[in-house]
Amino acid sequence: MTGASRGIGLAIAEALARAGADVVLVARNCKALESARKKLGGKASTVAADVSRPSDVDRVFAQVKRRHGRLDILVNCAGAFTYKPFVETTLEDWQRNIETNLGSVFLTTKAALPLLGASKHAHLVNILSTSSRNAFENCSAYTAAKFGALGLTRVLRKELQPKGIRVTAILPGLTDTEMLKEFGFDIPRDKVMQPEDVANAVLSALEQPARTAVHEVLLLPSAGSV
Ligand SMILES: NC(=O)c1ccc[n+]([C@@H]2O[C@H](COP(=O)([O-])OP(=O)(O)OC[C@H]3O[C@@H](n4cnc5c(N)ncnc54)[C@H](OP(=O)(O)O)[C@@H]3O)[C@@H](O)[C@H]2O)c1
Repeated sequence: MTGASRGIGLAIAEALARAGADVVLVARNCKALESARKKLGGKASTVAADVSRPSDVDRVFAQVKRRHGRLDILVNCAGAFTYKPFVETTLEDWQRNIETNLGSVFLTTKAALPLLGASKHAHLVNILSTSSRNAFENCSAYTAAKFGALGLTRVLRKELQPKGIRVTAILPGLTDTEMLKEFGFDIPRDKVMQPEDVANAVLSALEQPARTAVHEVLLLPSAGSV
């Protein structure tokens, strides 16, 4: 479970742990990971890693193999967001968004496939965004990355279907997490979704019987755009 130290990723990790899964929490900040692990209790473990770095990602899945010997579910949730007009977007902003939101999905999925391929209940869940389908101004790097990640997810669904690996994309709209701070202006928190709303959608997709695959779920605040 990447991006598991806070926000949507932590809510998904908590829901998975409540459902009985052994959850491996992945993010960069060790302190935040440790406090997330404590929240989840006994069955959770942590690996501090930057999912944009190939060697870190390889280390994550080597640890998963060593500790558990198997992997049934990979949830890609690590994300980065920049809110700036295109003309002010730096190469560094661009690279951070592309590598965190898109490159990481390539790296983790490649590294996880040997383990997922051995599971009888394998499921890949990618946390994407309404920005995977719609263009909003001042989000060029994020939008490019999330559109790309949806395209990659759709190809993976076709290629992994014969191996019995189900692939689900969750596309949330505005959700009350630290990421909202990147906008640089206040967003009314009662008008956006909560991380557990996204977690509920993930759980629901995972709990479908093997004969049913949830392809894409678009979740938007019922208050409309804010
Ligand atoms: N909040 C929204 O409105 C919203 C809407 C649509 C989609 N989403 C998507 O939902 C996902 C989770 O976002 P969030 O809102 O929960 O954001 P968040 O609170 O900022 O959490 C981001 C998580 O990703 C981790 N992360 C960031 N860069 C990483 C890296 N290079 N390597 C490993 N972990 C990394 C962070 O931990 P560290 O910093 O410790 O690494 C943290 O655990 C993202 O993919 C985001 O694009 C969010």
